[in-house]
Amino acid sequence: MTTTYPLRSLPLPPGSFGLPIIGETINFFREKDFVQRRQQRYGQIFKTHLFGHPTIFMLGAEASRFLFANEKRYFSDGIANGVPLPTKVLMGKASLAMQTGSEHQRQRKLLSQAFQTRALAGYVSTMEEITRNYLHKWERMGHFNWYSELRKYTLDVACKLLVGTEAAADSDFGEWYDVWAKGLLSIPVPLPWTKFGRALHCRHRLLARIEEIILERQQQPTTGQDVLGLMLQARDEDGNSLSLQELKEQLLTLLFAGHDTLSSALSSLCLMLAQHLEVKEAVRTEQQQLGVEEPLTLEHFKQMTYLEMVLKEVLRVIPPTSGSPRAVIKPCEFNGYLIPQGWKVYYNPSATHQDSRIYIQPKSFDPERFTPHHAEDKQKPMSYIPFGGGVRECVGREFAKLEMKLFATLSVREYEWELVPGQNLDIVRLPSAQPHDGLKVKFYRR
Ligand code: HEM
Repeated sequence: MTTTYPLRSLPLPPGSFGLPIIGETINFFREKDFVQRRQQRYGQIFKTHLFGHPTIFMLGAEASRFLFANEKRYFSDGIANGVPLPTKVLMGKASLAMQTGSEHQRQRKLLSQAFQTRALAGYVSTMEEITRNYLHKWERMGHFNWYSELRKYTLDVACKLLVGTEAAADSDFGEWYDVWAKGLLSIPVPLPWTKFGRALHCRHRLLARIEEIILERQQQPTTGQDVLGLMLQARDEDGNSLSLQELKEQLLTLLFAGHDTLSSALSSLCLMLAQHLEVKEAVRTEQQQLGVEEPLTLEHFKQMTYLEMVLKEVLRVIPPTSGSPRAVIKPCEFNGYLIPQGWKVYYNPSATHQDSRIYIQPKSFDPERFTPHHAEDKQKPMSYIPFGGGVRECVGREFAKLEMKLFATLSVREYEWELVPGQNLDIVRLPSAQPHDGLKVKFYRR
């Protein structure tokens, strides 16, 4: 949106800065519907104050489109200046998430090589083996909290396919990872007994272990069919590869980016299918009609068009992430409001996906809204953004979709599950969307 009048004369978006210094940061963590409440009060664009910065939330398809289309022009193409300090420190300077400009593009290109179709095809059999092992384990357990089990499952898949480590979830590596991840949104006091201090300690241990793995792998004649193997071989146009520090921090970034989000997506899938038995049955019918023989391949997954719509609807109704920050590098105008330089802006998948001007009855779970005939998400660009958009759109998107499809196929075909009554199924938003009581289920073979 361009202006022909001085930006200075424009009003700031409505909203409240909250308390001095801390602003509305505590409300952001405590209030279940932080964004929705303010959206109802102020509309699609509102101001607040988070993590020490004046901040603007820009909700809806038009706002997301404006933001993603103007990265580098009005908004930073990175999150480094917008994320809380602990996240910045614990992720590390070399992490893709903290890079901007040409360095971000160079690293992203190298990393993307591990997520192309040919690479994904090589991951299917390992993913299938780990998934089957977990399904057998859950059958033996009978009753359990699925969210915490899904976190172990996705960590095992990620560790095996990223760095070739077996059964990481029940090892020191898994423990260090958990402590590190808990520090990302902590208070940045680096003492041995604080959350942040312990997370820093675990970051060193994780990076040291990853370094050992990289050095071992560099000695081997073949680099292996996992993300690290492909990253060791990856070269840019000038023949440059990733440095040891870059490799270590990229692997930690991938582990984080892919783990919480996927645990969230899978637990939402399990919840939605338990609550919508007709959809679970329709997934089964598609599987029977396709008569897919094992071993599963990417070709098989391509044919599962109904399942694809179900997964898409899961990520619409409960997007795992609640958006990401950008810094305003040049003042601009949106919808008649001034967006001042130096402020932060956030996009928000959830509010965008609940827009009743785009989605019919947005609260209801209805995979059919994505049939080619309805295609509700296609009416306006940026109406569907669970994986973000613009220059930082999720690099692991196809990996995530593959794991979701494989998990859904094997679990729906062979198993049944029911929700344990009396639990709180409300979705907690942070750090990633998850059921309040962790999704307690009874799980058995069909
Ligand atoms: C970025 C969502 C799975 C790796 C993002 C962003 C979103 C997102 C919204 C953009 C953040 C921003 O705008 O700043 C998701 C969801 C997933 C998922 C919903 C699962 C359902 C994965 C997986 C991996 C991964 C499995 C890797 C194994 C990344 C990386 C970035 C990213 C590296 C940063 C890209 C960049 O900075 O250029 N993801 N993600 N994600 N995602 Fe994912």
